[in-house]
Amino acid sequence: MIFAKIAGTGSYLPKTILSNADLAERVDTTHEWILERTGIVSRHIASLSETTTEMAVAAAKKALAAANTLPNEIDLIVVATCTPDKNFPSTACHVQQALDIPPCPAFDLQAACSGFVYGVSVVDQFIRSGHTKKALLIGAESMSRVVDWQDRRTCILFGDGAGAVVIEAAETPGILATQVSADGREKDILFLDNSPGATLQMQGNSVFKLAVNQLDKIAGKILADQNLTIAALDWLIPHQANIRIIQATAEKLGLPMEKVILTLDHHGNTSAASIPLALDIGIQQQKVKRGQLLLLEAFGGGLTWGSALIRY
Ligand code: UT7
Repeated sequence: MIFAKIAGTGSYLPKTILSNADLAERVDTTHEWILERTGIVSRHIASLSETTTEMAVAAAKKALAAANTLPNEIDLIVVATCTPDKNFPSTACHVQQALDIPPCPAFDLQAACSGFVYGVSVVDQFIRSGHTKKALLIGAESMSRVVDWQDRRTCILFGDGAGAVVIEAAETPGILATQVSADGREKDILFLDNSPGATLQMQGNSVFKLAVNQLDKIAGKILADQNLTIAALDWLIPHQANIRIIQATAEKLGLPMEKVILTLDHHGNTSAASIPLALDIGIQQQKVKRGQLLLLEAFGGGLTWGSALIRY
């Protein structure tokens, strides 16, 4: 049997930091409101010349180094993003060119904030079917380019950045299970049109309620399907959208917040980049250690959602 495991991780955050106080100078809001309602203190914002591809490449270089992997060993590139630099060629092809990775399958995956978890599922299946030996999976987003900076309901939430993982074939299971799904009936509560200058539109309350009602069930199901209980879990690494959503999910699951990796406070919501960023930061902080059981979960525009259970 072939299995897939995480060989190394890396991340990148742009230098510019935008605090809640900075935002309060642009729109009618306060640090206190943002912190209390979202848990966010600051977020990183890409410079005008910095692209999604550049952030993806920076994170990928670190993941490759951490995995002791050379670019020419990579035989699959998947970039989860809803803010690519171009409709085509894909961000993945740009990353391939920038890192000098020889010809191999390379494509972008668009499942909004759930994109990285969808990517784990796709890469796992490429590897377990024998098609791929070493994959580069990246979540990279320039959300600052698509938010309406006049809209206090949304511009306070998002940030930019990238996270990357090298996933490789292994003899023992690393990725234990993935579950991904979507419900297009909710397509209008969170969307970004393709027309020039379009900005992200969201019915925050509706997204909030759906997330709070679903995420514990999603997490509970993937564990139960593997005959595991919440007690077996070392870390929950959730999509970083709102501290109240994360706290409600942890509470319903009976999981102490000490077992949740949180980066939301200083990253904001970086969409498909949020989970690989949180995973890499958790590893850098020596919280996440080899052999531990990790549960990744996300939800986003679509609505899409998904989870991945990983023995790291
Ligand atoms: O990756 C997935 C993407 N999205 C999400 O996960 C977002 C999910 N939703 C949320 O996180 C929350 O719904 C928000 C943080 C977006 C909003 O929080 P809320 O507690 O649902 O606030 P609300 O929309 O019900 O607004 C409450 C009040 C309103 O004023 P009135 O109508 O009660 O007078 C808003 O106008 O807060 C006002 N408000 C603000 N006030 C200060 C909305 N945004 C702001 C703001 N600063 N930035």
